[in-house]
Amino acid sequence: TFVVGENCIKCKYTDCVEVCPVDCFYEGPNFLVIHPDECIDCALCEPECPANAIFSEDEVPEDQQEFIELNAQLAEVWDNITEKKDAPADADEWNGVEGKLQHLEK
Ligand code: SF4
Ligand code: F3S
Repeated sequence: TFVVGENCIKCKYTDCVEVCPVDCFYEGPNFLVIHPDECIDCALCEPECPANAIFSEDEVPEDQQEFIELNAQLAEVWDNITEKKDAPADADEWNGVEGKLQHLEK
């Protein structure tokens, strides 16, 4: 499966959802996740993310391992998203900021 990592928080560009052939992205207030049971590992979304926030499960950085479980948990409770929408107005200012997990809204 593929996993959405920390740099999506407060960026949420949503380019990723447009290319997913199985529509397995789920949306929270300021973050997206991938449903691990639905993702078919096509890898199409990874290069689409302007924030480089998407990883193959086996390439998730050491300091973002908790996002594997977060994606699985939140995909069960958040709503499916299949169409791109406008990113937050300050998305570019948050792109690359460290330590965004504290800003995750559930
Ligand atoms: Fe969707 Fe493919 Fe990305 Fe999985 S790897 S979330 S199936 S686009
Ligand atoms: Fe997030 Fe990147 Fe998609 S910022 S919403 S994973 S395009």
